[in-house]
Amino acid sequence: MQMKLTIAGSGSYLPPTTVENRDFTRIVDTSDEWIRSRTGICRRHFSDGELTVEMGVKAAEKALADADLAATDLDLILVSSVTPDYVTPTISCLLQGYLGADQAFALDINVACSGFVYGLDLAARYLQDPAIHHVLLVASEKLSRVTDFTDRSTCVLFGDGAAAVVLTADGPGQELASCLKADGRQAQALTACYPDRNHPFGPALAPENSPESSGDQPALRFPQATPFIHMDGREVYRFAVSSIEQGIRTVTDRAGYQVEQLDWLIPHQANNRILEAAAKRLGLPMSKVYSCLEEIGNTSSSSVGIALDRCRQAGLLQTGQLVAFSGFGGGLTHGTILVKI
Ligand code: UT7
Repeated sequence: MQMKLTIAGSGSYLPPTTVENRDFTRIVDTSDEWIRSRTGICRRHFSDGELTVEMGVKAAEKALADADLAATDLDLILVSSVTPDYVTPTISCLLQGYLGADQAFALDINVACSGFVYGLDLAARYLQDPAIHHVLLVASEKLSRVTDFTDRSTCVLFGDGAAAVVLTADGPGQELASCLKADGRQAQALTACYPDRNHPFGPALAPENSPESSGDQPALRFPQATPFIHMDGREVYRFAVSSIEQGIRTVTDRAGYQVEQLDWLIPHQANNRILEAAAKRLGLPMSKVYSCLEEIGNTSSSSVGIALDRCRQAGLLQTGQLVAFSGFGGGLTHGTILVKI
């Protein structure tokens, strides 16, 4: 289904503290060479006590200024985060209140690294309603909060940061097709959990009473899960490469285009090897795949937004171009959309 979707403004924010690959050699057994060659990451930014919502506000203010709009012009605020500051209130409500977006309702999205792409698709669908003129989509992640800094296989990958776009139906842009998918059967590949506790009247659900994974049904409890990210990197790698390929083939096919007609692929920034492998399968030159991973690391759902903002600010995106956005991650989830900008 084709839907009006124009990017009226964008912004992004990275906290000032930069951590180089070599800084990790002080805390885990790793090297700049390993991190660089296996991922493409050179440095990342970490919050110095800034909240997730505070980073989101900074990106949102830039996007509103770029769109030349006031917060009171917004009808809907969508915020994607796997690292919100509170269980309640929602991060989207906090942002709505702080910005003074009094006309907007506010909704959180949590589909891990796919969040920005899901948010673009949700925005396009809401913008079909004539009562909704402007949607603010924000992604903000403080992954340093859920990173196990004793686990070398994950701690070198992540970074903190935020991104935002103001979206409108009033413009030339169109979402031409989308392909959003979930695969909860692979949920165990990427986990982090809330700390659990029993109520004062006895165990809420004793492990022996918990649903077992049986037959066709996957487990609901993951022995490896802690409040910090645990990832089966190889499993997620395979999922990522095939998800990007499948997503791009599906959206171009649905919209009646060939893959080679794409001007840009703006993917989730997780690993340059993933991007190279997917591009090779698609026959897409790497010159059309935008990457800023080197500077930011993996910022989960913020990464597609940060990449989009960097592309716009560098003047790489022109009206009429065919741009695909692709995200993949925890859940497992993936999402790809095709936009004529
Ligand atoms: O945003 C959410 C989505 N996440 C992703 O997309 C991540 C997807 N996965 C990946 O990007 C890659 O799987 C990783 C970058 C996480 C790992 O790369 P890999 O090439 O799959 O490495 P591996 O896990 O197969 O490990 C290879 C070796 C192992 O040593 P042995 O068993 O071969 O002796 C690891 O112990 O590299 C070792 N290793 C490290 N060595 C130095 C793992 N982490 C490190 C490290 N420094 N930081």
